[in-house]
Amino acid sequence: MENVVQITDLVKDYETGFFKKKKVRAVDGISLTVSGGQIFGFLGGNGAGKTTTIKILMSLLYPTSGNAQILGSDISDFEMHRRIGYCPENPYFYDYLTPKELLSYFAEIFGISPAESKKRTEELLTQVGLEEKDWNKQLRKFSKGMLQRVGLAQSLINDPELVFLDEPMSGLDPIGRREVRELIASLRDQGKTVFMSTHILSDVEALCDEVAILRKGKLAANGRLDDLLTTHAGDQAFEITLRGIAAEKLSEAFADADIVSRGHGVTLRVSDESKIDTVLAEARKHGGKLTSVQPTKQSLEELFVSKTGE
Ligand SMILES: Nc1ncnc2c1ncn2[C@@H]1O[C@H](COP(=O)(O)OP(=O)(O)O)[C@@H](O)[C@H]1O
Ligand SMILES: [Mg+2]
Repeated sequence: MENVVQITDLVKDYETGFFKKKKVRAVDGISLTVSGGQIFGFLGGNGAGKTTTIKILMSLLYPTSGNAQILGSDISDFEMHRRIGYCPENPYFYDYLTPKELLSYFAEIFGISPAESKKRTEELLTQVGLEEKDWNKQLRKFSKGMLQRVGLAQSLINDPELVFLDEPMSGLDPIGRREVRELIASLRDQGKTVFMSTHILSDVEALCDEVAILRKGKLAANGRLDDLLTTHAGDQAFEITLRGIAAEKLSEAFADADIVSRGHGVTLRVSDESKIDTVLAEARKHGGKLTSVQPTKQSLEELFVSKTGE
């Protein structure tokens, strides 16, 4: 698929302090491309520059230097913005509007007819999991999680090809997160591209095809999640935990494996699935019993920590 986002040497300095004399470089020379039809994860710790980059892409902030294109057009192109959606971090809306009023307001901005607007509003509010009893309540009475859902619905009102979601899971409880996760996956199934920033790694693992990791405004890693994790995790693909056996018994047979004694058991990492049987056979010879076999799950966290320095 062709590139739907292209960022070239993007830099953003914020001027702060008295007389705006101090400069903070929030984005420090980012270049990256995002191909269409996927969920792209924009990762990084607090203050890494994710929101600033997204706001520049949305034309809400001017870059200090560099440029970017979305759907083949410069980010200042007004027509292009009709084809994309945006849900800000901590969406803030007009307190005295209801979700239905807010969505029809946005629909009107996009020139959607009243009949179509009503239909889409109801579909979207259902899709984001907002209960019908809340559709006509004022937004000031909403929790953070409910506002997040309204924000998501708002970002989809114009049926965008590409949607930018800044921390879409923040403020949601685990059930809400799963629902929003499913919603995001369904957007990809509909052929849309999702560009989402997040620091919730389990969501990244469950959803993202490609990622970029930011650190202090710079790109620390970029590529297919699978590739980044494989490179990082090396060949250590499974973790086997055994009980009733001493580490020494196994280190004789598997000299190059990574073996650690833990409590009453032993944990050992093997490079691929085919080696699991060999290890189990050897362990049983010495009276060892299997507690668990797990794919090495820490790897995204390890990757994140190593790239963000957190
Ligand atoms: N309006 C602003 N004025 C000055 N500094 C800002 C402003 N907004 C963000 N920053 C700074 O820019 C850096 C990047 O922030 P941000 O883009 O919000 O990061 P993230 O979304 O990854 O947490 C941080 O150091 C932050 O303090
Ligand atoms: Mg942010």
